[in-house]
Amino acid sequence: MPLISHTPAWKSLEQLWDRTAGLRMRDLFEEDPGRCERFSLEECGIHLDYSKNLITDETMQHLMALVRTADLRFWGDSLLRGDKVNNTEGRAVLHMALRNVGDRSYQVDGVDVMPGVRAVLKRMRAFADEVRQGRWLGHTGRPIRDVVSIGIGGSSLGPKMVCNALRPYQSHDLRVHFVSNVDGTQLVETLNGLDPATTLFVIASKTFTTQETSTNADSARAWCLAALQDQAAIARHFVAVSTNREAVIRFGIDPQNMFEFWEWVGGRYSLWSAIGLPIALAIGPDRFDELLAGAYAMDEHFVEAPPERNMPIILALLGIWYNNFGGADTQAVIPYDQYLEHFPTFLQQLDMESNGKRVTRDGVPVDYATGAVVWGQPGTDAQHSFFQLIHQGTRLIPTDFILPLRSQHPLEGHHDKLVANCLAQAQALMRGRTEAEARSELQAGGIAPEVIDRLVPHRTFPGNRPSNMLLVEQVTPKVLGSLIALYEHKVFVQGVVWGVDSFDQWGVELGKQLAGQILADFREIACSAGVDSSTASLIRRYHMAMSD
Ligand code: F6P
Repeated sequence: MPLISHTPAWKSLEQLWDRTAGLRMRDLFEEDPGRCERFSLEECGIHLDYSKNLITDETMQHLMALVRTADLRFWGDSLLRGDKVNNTEGRAVLHMALRNVGDRSYQVDGVDVMPGVRAVLKRMRAFADEVRQGRWLGHTGRPIRDVVSIGIGGSSLGPKMVCNALRPYQSHDLRVHFVSNVDGTQLVETLNGLDPATTLFVIASKTFTTQETSTNADSARAWCLAALQDQAAIARHFVAVSTNREAVIRFGIDPQNMFEFWEWVGGRYSLWSAIGLPIALAIGPDRFDELLAGAYAMDEHFVEAPPERNMPIILALLGIWYNNFGGADTQAVIPYDQYLEHFPTFLQQLDMESNGKRVTRDGVPVDYATGAVVWGQPGTDAQHSFFQLIHQGTRLIPTDFILPLRSQHPLEGHHDKLVANCLAQAQALMRGRTEAEARSELQAGGIAPEVIDRLVPHRTFPGNRPSNMLLVEQVTPKVLGSLIALYEHKVFVQGVVWGVDSFDQWGVELGKQLAGQILADFREIACSAGVDSSTASLIRRYHMAMSD
């Protein structure tokens, strides 16, 4: 397979970008009253308005040709068949099986995975009910009041984001906390004020060898034992979620208290598996099922809808349009919903760990940009920090707005303002403010002509800055499931077009290895041979600080 950049479909997109560089979105809207309707789509409770993009029908046709050239259909079928799509790790990628509430069959090496998936879901349901209904008792016979999930990366970011997003659906007598960082501060601050007799730890780690998680889990166990003074307490206060049964047993967790998942579940795609146990504990198993059902609905849409009406494909191609042809380096994601505050961070791992790759799945270096830098934070706060650069800076920053139409907290006057601000940002990015408009506004304010001349360049907005608007009625478990699956499939489509393995993450390994060597140097109070002078000097400084 040649690099995608060497195909006619790619070349014609390059030419198209140059040819359409002069297009003004303002004009496109004025010329075509049907633009919004034509470039909008409604699926799984999500209304996507992508009309405020630098596109015409021709652009979309060329982008669709690109996705056909990349043979998305072949890769989609491979994924569904359980082929080893993650070729550098020799693994199938079947997170869709985890939320398969329909009757699709998913197999790995000829074995149906669905009975195992359903059995674990059933155990999760029973356990979540026991804890939530106060029937799972701690070592001293008291019900659980706090759950502390210890995990990192994919074993934390998804559940943490979902628990926060669905806080209105949580029970008030069970609080769920997340500890991921090996910085002891996070564990200490989280445990501060918690009672070991009513605290349950969920140790979530696919490999059960991750340094941060093991370290936090060891300290949590010490905290628990210091208070409860009995090794038998571990069985009532620690459960594990992992694929590594031996390591779980070695840690001292009863395998009866282990919820398994499988190597074909990638970390950043694992919130639908037992890694979602903190979610089931927080919102209850019925609502967890709704989350799965939402993702399933999006899976079905992705698998069945033609590319031209396929929401993940459209989002993926728009991203590629700016990333590869418009020179954009980043993608902003701005939820106008405080409960979605962790959504951009979750997407960072999903997108950047998946598509932050410099070689194709065959190991050939690419000569085009792959995964964008994903970033963002909730509006309206974002407006008062970095929106200046999005509006008037020198960079092109495509932006996704996510907006629930109904608030979970309809305080008088708040939601109108939130919605108005979100719509206004998208409008301002698209329209901008011309020099003439800036001038006439200043004139209307009675400003002196020489001051106007000075101010006009600063008060002019170029506009023509693209955004997608994703409207939902409200962020329910089902809608959230669909929203997450939408971005998962978007990332998959982009990975297929770029020809990369979106399901490995070798790029995080080197740092882990070197940290191990440096840690050994700390223990020896020495410095390994061959260490560069900068690292050696930093190690010596740490030795000195520790010996003070
Ligand atoms: O650091 C990268 C990573 O391997 C992620 O992909 C993964 O989600 C995370 O670490 C945690 O790994 P584990 O679940 O095995 O502890």
